[in-house]
Amino acid sequence: MESDSVDMQLPRHVAIIMDGNGRWAQKRGLPRYAGHPAGVEAVRGVVEACVAMGIPVLTLFAFSSENWQRPQKEVNLIMDLFMRSLKKEIRRLDRNQVRLRVIGDRSAFPAKLQKQIEEAERLTQTNTGLLLQVAANYGGRWDMTQAARRLAERIQSGELTPAQVDEAAVSQHLAFPGVPEPDLFIRTGGEKRISNFLLWQCAYTELYFTDQLWPDFNRQTLEAAILDFTRRQRRFGRTGEQVQGKTAEAS
Ligand code: IPE
Ligand code: IPE
Ligand code: MG
Repeated sequence: MESDSVDMQLPRHVAIIMDGNGRWAQKRGLPRYAGHPAGVEAVRGVVEACVAMGIPVLTLFAFSSENWQRPQKEVNLIMDLFMRSLKKEIRRLDRNQVRLRVIGDRSAFPAKLQKQIEEAERLTQTNTGLLLQVAANYGGRWDMTQAARRLAERIQSGELTPAQVDEAAVSQHLAFPGVPEPDLFIRTGGEKRISNFLLWQCAYTELYFTDQLWPDFNRQTLEAAILDFTRRQRRFGRTGEQVQGKTAEAS
């Protein structure tokens, strides 16, 4: 019973804003972009930890729609790193049964990178383990806007009526329909903001902030966040008594 209840409390979907690479490098007297390769190492660690813990979905915020505003040199380096990391890691991900999916407006990426992403997604699409979603050139506002546009197109073509545009219809047109919404959101690097990450999908997500810089993130950090999560009472608008009563009825 004990282990069952712990299992039941494991988040089905963890979403992470991987922040603090630049400061991590600067603390070491390095240029800020030197933090990004160190961040990739931390990605490998968190993916392995999620696989080992049996977490079904992990979404990582790698590059926001606003990050294009960074110095060109840093943007180029991040694109290059994305390309190299995909090439280097994809076999290992595949061996671990990880299914990779990139969410965001990929049309802005160099053609070679777009091709690499497609190949990686194709190679891993039938895998049955962790679903790893990498948010790249992603923005919550972009996501909701493209959903609104596609709904408008379907109304214009007569497939849908305005009255059919309900919450379920909006959800189905977002970047990852059918995937459970994040249970746990983690942001490293000390900032306490969402920075245009999953705006719609995080309506009832539990938020966890840590000062640790992303390259220092490790399995212990993930476990601490999950432990914190398991101790929270998720009420979804109901009262604490109702939620407890429901648990008692169910068990
Ligand atoms: C997050 O680390 C990585 C990306 C946004 C690509 P930052 O590069 O934002 O690191 P800080 O916040 O400047 O330390
Ligand atoms: C958020 O981090 C985006 C990613 C981690 C990819 P930023 O460093 O861009 O966020 P702000 O600018 O501090 O809000
Ligand atoms: Mg940052």
